[in-house]
Amino acid sequence: MISVNPERREFHLKNQNISYIFRVMEELDVLEQLYFGSSIPIYDQYDFLIEREIRPANNQIKQNYTTSLEHIKQEVGLYGTTDFRYPMLRVRYPKGDRISHFTYQHYRIELGKQALSGLPGSFGEAGETLIITLQDRYSPLQVELYYTLFGEESVVTRQMKIINPSETTFELLDCLSFNLDLPNQHYDWLHLDGAWARETQISRNSIAYGVQEVASTRGASSHVHNPFMAVCESNATEEQGKIYGFSLIYSGNFVARLQLDTYDILRIQMGINPFEFAWQLTPKSTFLTPEAVLVYSEAGFNGMSQSFHHFFQEHLISSRWSHKQRPVLINNWEATYFDFDSEKLLQIAEKAAAIGVDLFVLDDGWFGTRNSDNGSLGNWQVQLAKIPEGISAFATKINQLGLEFGLWFEPEMISTDTPLYEMHPEWVIGNSEKQISHGRNQFVLDFSNPEVVETIFQQIDCVLACGKITYLKWDMNRYISEPFSNYLADGNQGELFHRYILGVYDLYEKILAKYPDLLIESCAGGGGRFDPGLLYYAPQTWASDDTDGVERLKIQYGASMVYPLASIGSHLSQIPNHQVGRSPGLTFRNQVAMFGTYGLELDITRMSDVELQQVKAAIATFKEYRELIHEGRFYRLNSPFDNTQCSWMVVSKDLSEALVADYQVLGKPNPAYRRLLLAGLDLEANYQINQLPQLRSGKDLSSIGLIMGGNYVGRAKDYWSRQLPGDYASQLYHLRRVDK
Ligand code: DGJ
Repeated sequence: MISVNPERREFHLKNQNISYIFRVMEELDVLEQLYFGSSIPIYDQYDFLIEREIRPANNQIKQNYTTSLEHIKQEVGLYGTTDFRYPMLRVRYPKGDRISHFTYQHYRIELGKQALSGLPGSFGEAGETLIITLQDRYSPLQVELYYTLFGEESVVTRQMKIINPSETTFELLDCLSFNLDLPNQHYDWLHLDGAWARETQISRNSIAYGVQEVASTRGASSHVHNPFMAVCESNATEEQGKIYGFSLIYSGNFVARLQLDTYDILRIQMGINPFEFAWQLTPKSTFLTPEAVLVYSEAGFNGMSQSFHHFFQEHLISSRWSHKQRPVLINNWEATYFDFDSEKLLQIAEKAAAIGVDLFVLDDGWFGTRNSDNGSLGNWQVQLAKIPEGISAFATKINQLGLEFGLWFEPEMISTDTPLYEMHPEWVIGNSEKQISHGRNQFVLDFSNPEVVETIFQQIDCVLACGKITYLKWDMNRYISEPFSNYLADGNQGELFHRYILGVYDLYEKILAKYPDLLIESCAGGGGRFDPGLLYYAPQTWASDDTDGVERLKIQYGASMVYPLASIGSHLSQIPNHQVGRSPGLTFRNQVAMFGTYGLELDITRMSDVELQQVKAAIATFKEYRELIHEGRFYRLNSPFDNTQCSWMVVSKDLSEALVADYQVLGKPNPAYRRLLLAGLDLEANYQINQLPQLRSGKDLSSIGLIMGGNYVGRAKDYWSRQLPGDYASQLYHLRRVDK
């Protein structure tokens, strides 16, 4: 998989789908990027991939006109070396300058891969990792570049380690996870933007000369931008076109940056946001960047997404969960908010058990004296006024109903009315001599301080120790606005954001080390931290606080660009919807929620028997298709963005079964004819659709498609008495392959 020509110092990472090629430049010993794209043969030499022009510029490292690094596609953009583009690595030396020159030393190849310590990362026995060592010409600093290829995945992962073997401290200023310089092809770029309750909205623009980036400065990957971007041919669609996808396995401040220069080289970078980052690389220490995932697809955005989904399922999400059936849960948040007691909850749970729910989740408000969102975070003791029997006995009652039990925590936060705050006001992030803003009446605990992390672990451990909690919802409801740590020294304040997120990962590690079977759903006011970093620990993420079916079409469509359906937290909720006041019918709402982890967020005690039976049937429908949805290959067919229709489908990996969902948000008068072209089917086979007698071949379903609409042939009705689907209409088509 990794072929090396040691004499020519050329490296080719190759499988059936992709090739990634670079070399060490003669004279300068700098790594030159040669190619990333579809798989090409292994050649004796790759000179034919080298691009050079003699240019009139006067910033030449050597006495010739072709070695200005500004004009060369590189693997590690550095500062202070005739390259004026944004660097991947920038170091401040003891004298204050930032001039470095890292050159190639040697390589090694390791089989298999484990996440490197302290950070979430990909793993797998089928992996092969190429490690390139670079040496700084001006200091003892070394760099290790990690490139991993897993079997036939269309993925290369990249990561960098900086090693300081000396007795001197250096300051890391820019320390990104990868740099990739590609030839420009007048690409577009696509990314996921949003806000609270409006996450993962798709944004696509052509790439202009200059710098374009999405980033976070908020301490979390955030609702605003996801740590993902794609670069694609301008005519690329869901079905066709060349796409490069980039995703960062990280949950803190990130940057995803493009820089198109005047020679039509497109520099692509991703990593920890250098804004507010300065790391003291102390004597004998190392610094490891987050791992980045680079995907290449020639099958449009669906191809790219399927590569991400498969890669995350096989090499990032814990193998305990990646293929394990996820429970159908009921969460009491939208049913009761803070207004509950154990009696009310048990009424919900009893009805839930009767209609096919597997897990009862007790959300916010069970602890301290919390009856609104203005206190008690950091006091993780049961509120006896609401749950007089205590958590353990309450969990037993839930279990006796035949349900598993799950509990909500917001571990990273503190309220000022808690004993913890009284004891440790200095554990709040912020400078007490200056403004410290609250967010939702709460403050952020300084997770850069290991003692804080350990204290919160002890509190959570006391609750989990009852042994009856199988699911934990880990929420996080505000950003870091005034970054200052009382724990870190003056010179280390630039480390706070990264150390904070390392503290978050550490708490996940501690909890999972003691409770390895716990299913954790991550959440940050909905999808404020929906990123691959947390997927490593928490196989599912609550995608948004917006549970409206119409909005969810967009949110889930956008999230599916990167994240597998089995990781997208989605619930059937009440109407009128609590976020937008809209009232789509149960079928529509259910058929949207089904394309995710699935659960209920309803006060089912207020429902009539007829309504309860409808919800029971809705759950049964999901369960019927759960495996297909979570294990199948997902295809987006019609985008809900700027469109009143949306459709998507999943096809089982063996192509024997498929489930198509078509949604009409608003009815149209006298509509145009419409055909829904299906994707991913066995072209040679016949399929039966919804048990109808007419078989259709995979080929004609892909080229002619399903003819949508009334199909009134032979059943003529007059215009006024025909049946209309109306607003919020949806339809499922289940396809089963019939033996050839
Ligand atoms: C935000 C989450 O996204 C909601 O689902 C809910 O858990 C609330 N927090 C509770 O405060």
